[in-house]
Amino acid sequence: MRVAVPAETLPGERRVAVTPETVAQLVGAGLEVVVQRGAGRHAFVPDDAYTGAGAVVVEAVDAAAVDVLLHVRPLPPAVPPRLREGAITIGLCSPSTELPTVAALRDARTTSFALELVPRISRAQSMDALTSQALVAGYRCVLEAATRLPRFLPLFMTAAGTVPPARVLVLGAGVAGLQAIATARRLGAVVSGYDVRSSSADEVRSMGATFVDLGLDALEGGGGYAREMTEERARAQREALAPHVADADVVITTAAVPGRSAPLLVTTPMVAAMKPGSVVVDLAAESGGNVEASVPGQDVAVPATAGGGDVVVVGMRDAASTMPVDASRLYAKNVANLLLLMTTDGEVVPDFDDEVVAGACLTHAGEVRHEPTRILLEGGQ
Ligand code: NAI
Repeated sequence: MRVAVPAETLPGERRVAVTPETVAQLVGAGLEVVVQRGAGRHAFVPDDAYTGAGAVVVEAVDAAAVDVLLHVRPLPPAVPPRLREGAITIGLCSPSTELPTVAALRDARTTSFALELVPRISRAQSMDALTSQALVAGYRCVLEAATRLPRFLPLFMTAAGTVPPARVLVLGAGVAGLQAIATARRLGAVVSGYDVRSSSADEVRSMGATFVDLGLDALEGGGGYAREMTEERARAQREALAPHVADADVVITTAAVPGRSAPLLVTTPMVAAMKPGSVVVDLAAESGGNVEASVPGQDVAVPATAGGGDVVVVGMRDAASTMPVDASRLYAKNVANLLLLMTTDGEVVPDFDDEVVAGACLTHAGEVRHEPTRILLEGGQ
């Protein structure tokens, strides 16, 4: 069967859905792999490397001749109608926001798999692109803060005096937040973290950071995720967090609630109460923002109330794509592992009795299989 990888078309997207390593794996499993010329160039993978691994490099992917299409970003709605009926697609789909694409996949009778829907169970960890990409994003957030902060992160004891370490506060301690904590610790900062899940205190402490206990109830949702806050609780949380934010040199926010807009954790007055020169990085800027002042892809200067300069609010955009080499290395493995789970003797045949395959399936045989997306789609039509 023919597996095709077109070049990503979204401006700014630098990742690619296969690497030479995964091409070799797929070819070894009896699949034919076709890669569009230049698909790997932003991830520094030359066409020759794909050819060397056993792929065929083509000028353009002929969608009608594809059995399996691998991608990073959600496909544009114009793509599914060009695929043959029953073709398989695997990639990120953002189902709740890309409804026209979901409808196109359904109407083209495409069997589409959304990596966001891979169940978060131990067996599926190697296919969990949310986790692999959150790791990249969490790491990158700290680097963005470090390069803007007008001071050191670590403690330095020098002949010219002692420089105290910077204080980093991480709000939201899921995969990205814990990686941000680990990275800030490695750079020598004094780190504290906060999250609403009851297990997060131990997780934050296990990374060597201090857990900020606000004395508020935990907000546990289904599947290990957080639950949405009421407005009253949100206000209480912001009030309790305010002194911790004011005390930090760097605040990194990564809070998210599945299927909802990101919760507002840090208001503009909270940012203004920080010391001038401090830095706030909002990883959730693209999904509603944890920080009131953040704008995706921009630095926003908020004058410090105390005077003496601004606090910079960094709105992260395409965070994983900023490190395309390792982000692609991990993402391509996630994609290949899901594809290989469905491959026997060179044939890709999804087994819908497998909870990973069934859970990750977005559309199949003219239906939207993911119930929340189906409801959204029907409600919106
Ligand atoms: P996420 O990206 O949905 O959210 C990030 C973090 O924001 C979460 O830890 C969440 O609790 C927190 N948050 C939400 N509202 C908040 C608020 N108002 N204030 C502060 N923090 C808030 O979460 P992510 O990173 O995808 O992880 C979610 C859960 O899934 C975690 O429990 C994680 O350990 C678990 N997980 C399990 C895996 C597996 O078993 N294979 C793999 C990856 C994650």
